[in-house]
Amino acid sequence: MSQSDSSQYTWAGRFSEPMSDLVKRYTASVNFDRRMWRQDIRASVAHATMLARQGIISAADLTDIERGMAQVVREIEEDRFVWSLDLEDVHLNIEKRLTTLVGDAGKRLHTGRSRNDQVATDIRLYLRDAIDTLLPLLRKFQNALLDLAEKEAATPLPGFTHLQVAQPVTFGHHLLAYFEMMQRDAERFTDCRRRTNRLPLGAAALAGTTYPIDRHFVAQMLGFEGVCENSLDAVSDRDFAIEFCAASALLMMHVSRLSEELVLWMNPRFGFIRIADRFCTGSSIMPQKKNPDVPELARGKTGRVYGHLTALLTLMKGQPLAYNKDNQEDKEPLFDAIDTVSDTLRIFAEMIAGITVNPEKMREALSQGFATATDLADYLTRQGLPFRDAHEAVGRAVRRAEELGVDLAQLSLAELQHFAPTVDEDVFAVLTVDGSLAARKHLGGTAPEQVLAAIARARRA
Ligand code: ARG
Repeated sequence: MSQSDSSQYTWAGRFSEPMSDLVKRYTASVNFDRRMWRQDIRASVAHATMLARQGIISAADLTDIERGMAQVVREIEEDRFVWSLDLEDVHLNIEKRLTTLVGDAGKRLHTGRSRNDQVATDIRLYLRDAIDTLLPLLRKFQNALLDLAEKEAATPLPGFTHLQVAQPVTFGHHLLAYFEMMQRDAERFTDCRRRTNRLPLGAAALAGTTYPIDRHFVAQMLGFEGVCENSLDAVSDRDFAIEFCAASALLMMHVSRLSEELVLWMNPRFGFIRIADRFCTGSSIMPQKKNPDVPELARGKTGRVYGHLTALLTLMKGQPLAYNKDNQEDKEPLFDAIDTVSDTLRIFAEMIAGITVNPEKMREALSQGFATATDLADYLTRQGLPFRDAHEAVGRAVRRAEELGVDLAQLSLAELQHFAPTVDEDVFAVLTVDGSLAARKHLGGTAPEQVLAAIARARRA
């Protein structure tokens, strides 16, 4: 195995043998944790400011650190910063460069701090920022659902149970079901943000530090809502990342259900909707194909986010207190969950906005499954028949209609009276799709007026 000179490592003092290249590559995280560079620098400057305020380092040291960090920021932003695998992770890369730029002040930055509380702080800041970008994307997706629901507030669609025509619903009502799911998803992310937004710095390696630090000052400077109250817990638990992945898994589950419906609705057998061509792809062999790739991929990516949740739960379950290197494995699943969810929300907001609806196809599908049978049973019940008897009578009427190859509304009055003698002319209004929809006018019902009311409430919320 090839080996590299160990003297360059900040921690090399007690080592007698250099690290092999394979071990170096195996243990380094800089290739994936460098994306937290902004958070790392923000947290370091806050830490240094506190050290100077408490008289632990000098004001001149703080000035040097601030100046050096400003330079590091420029170098990274302009892509001039040289990231080195030898320096293991984002923390040591930045600290080393700072020290090259400003000398001893750079070496004093790590006073009263460990990479253990440093990395825990960085991830929390990173996740908090990510949730803050993600929530507006979720809102945009929800708004796209509301806009389409408003346009289609009165458009009848077959509501399914067991994927068989059940009762008429409005397409707007159907879309609002997804709005509600996303609403709970947003609550979960907001809730997760609160628990993420606590400061680990001050815990140092695991036991705290001997310097007279001021953790509340650092917390305030970084916008944390509080500090982690136990140093061992602060450096070791990643439950906030697990919670985020759990919320993401639920969100993706909802997106996946919607995707499945979009795929079905686009199928020519249904033909209910079209999504814009830019969200579809063709086949390399079958010239006629237009495939719903985006919803299919979202459905597929759901599994990947579930995987990240399982990975993080498993990562934590066997770890004794406090920090263990296992925790370095928290980042890739978390980052990928963030990326997957953000991209999915972005693309869905656009895709929903580009949906065109084919109401004739929806009505046609509705005319085939006796969707208003329950309405007829309700009609008979209103006339005084016990519901179970009404159910039975309508069942027999459906059988007759099926034999004749017609819908319930196409049976003659005499025929209907054969099954239920009390039926009158006014039954035909009940048997229409629009009558069925309009009758469900209570809170949470599918009547167009209720859909519009729900949209108005949602827009206010
Ligand atoms: N790269 C490490 C991580 O992601 C930083 C903390 C390293 N601490 C340590 N004691 N080796 O967790």
